[in-house]
Amino acid sequence: MRLKKGVKKIIVIVVVVILVLSLGIYSFIKIKDKMAYEKTYEYKLTTVGYDLDTSSYLAKTYKDKELEYILKQEKDDIYLTISKEKYFIYDKFYDYIEYYQNNKDKSLTSIVEIVNTNTNKEYYTDTLETDLSKGNLILVNKYYYLPEDYVPEDLVTISLDYAYGELGSQKMTKEAYEAFLNLWKESHNNGYYLMVNSSYRTNEEQEETYNDYAKSGGTNYADSIAARPGHSEHQTGLTMDVFEKGTGQKNFKDTDSYKWLKENAHRFGFIERYPSDKVSVTGYEYESWHYRYVGIEAATYIYENNITFDEYYAYFVK
Ligand code: DAL
Ligand code: ZN
Repeated sequence: MRLKKGVKKIIVIVVVVILVLSLGIYSFIKIKDKMAYEKTYEYKLTTVGYDLDTSSYLAKTYKDKELEYILKQEKDDIYLTISKEKYFIYDKFYDYIEYYQNNKDKSLTSIVEIVNTNTNKEYYTDTLETDLSKGNLILVNKYYYLPEDYVPEDLVTISLDYAYGELGSQKMTKEAYEAFLNLWKESHNNGYYLMVNSSYRTNEEQEETYNDYAKSGGTNYADSIAARPGHSEHQTGLTMDVFEKGTGQKNFKDTDSYKWLKENAHRFGFIERYPSDKVSVTGYEYESWHYRYVGIEAATYIYENNITFDEYYAYFVK
């Protein structure tokens, strides 16, 4: 009996010790877990006012540097919403935020569009030589220029059946010309007759064009309709100014021929480069006649998503 009592006592003591130890270990693990969790960005973000879902999303979306930045700022939904924009580019995060802070009336979509296309900066500031290795997707605009002596390798002459001027004065790259011929045939089958009015232009020819406008209407006027030398797509050999035979360039926008071209050019790899609703992005007045060859894939995306080549380049090419 006495032995049994002793055994019982030992068992009780052992059980109590095990329980106390387990509780201690459990509490220790819990405290350690809590301490580890408190070091996570998900937790830190909740301490500055974000709800758990938002904190978790932000912690997954951003890298440490941006999360540290967000933690130092006042709580703002912009960090969540901007990252969900279709054309959000991670590397432009600080530019978006800076632009947003000075333009809170603008939609997030337009903030992303403006920053992606550099139009938060003055035209012709911070200009860069464009990346020539992009082939048909070379970007030339008010921020990216071509070397002064750039001449496309494979220029071919446009037949006078489809071009104004003297033979040899109108040229395009071989691939763009072949695409144009296919486009021309189909437009002709639909009852139209497109004529190329301007195509490849040298740097010097562009300078003359720009200077003529500047002389007659001033720099602002010239900048709204012509590119400064080096900044014209015409120098790429991938561009044509085109309109219906017998109609003027300015009237082209009112023709059925234009309507057909606008809706079908992408199937042949061309885009309307300076549409009426994108003046603030391209920096050029509406040019119903100016078409740029970018290849069928890019042209189709640009057409179907109603974006400019500048936006396409920033998101998909650069
Ligand atoms: N008219 C277009 C913008 C050019 O000069 O290239
Ligand atoms: Zn043009």
